[in-house]
Amino acid sequence: MVMDAATRQKVVQALQQDVSLELGAIIQYLWHHYMGEGIESPEINELFEKVGRDEMKHLEKFAQRVIALGGEPNTEVAPVKKGGDLKKMMRDDLEGERNAVKVYKGHIKLCADLGDTTTRLLLEETVSKEEEHIDLWETTLGIAPGA
Ligand SMILES: [Fe+2]
Ligand SMILES: [Fe+2]
Repeated sequence: MVMDAATRQKVVQALQQDVSLELGAIIQYLWHHYMGEGIESPEINELFEKVGRDEMKHLEKFAQRVIALGGEPNTEVAPVKKGGDLKKMMRDDLEGERNAVKVYKGHIKLCADLGDTTTRLLLEETVSKEEEHIDLWETTLGIAPGA
């Protein structure tokens, strides 16, 4: 559908926040991957890189959507948590994933209200992937869902 300029602006603004969150997630996962070299579990260290690559795909899709709506993707990076042991890293990553889901769900609602089906579907797809990440870290940490 064709959106007016004000509507496009609102969606772009929301997507810019999502771009920042993905930029932060990419850096956080890659730093965990680099700093996790040689520590407790090489398997978990590989997961940091693998999930970080998923976040790169999200970033690309969000950035492309910003451009399609006439905006320029920002380069602002959401806060990154690093350091600590492996457990702390996974815990920080889990918190980041939960926050992303919360923010994206808010933006799904915004897009539904504004009638932007394309962005809404993109966000829904992304949430489903982030929920896989949440599940991965909860399982690896051995904690109950939502704990
Ligand atoms: Fe993501
Ligand atoms: Fe994620």
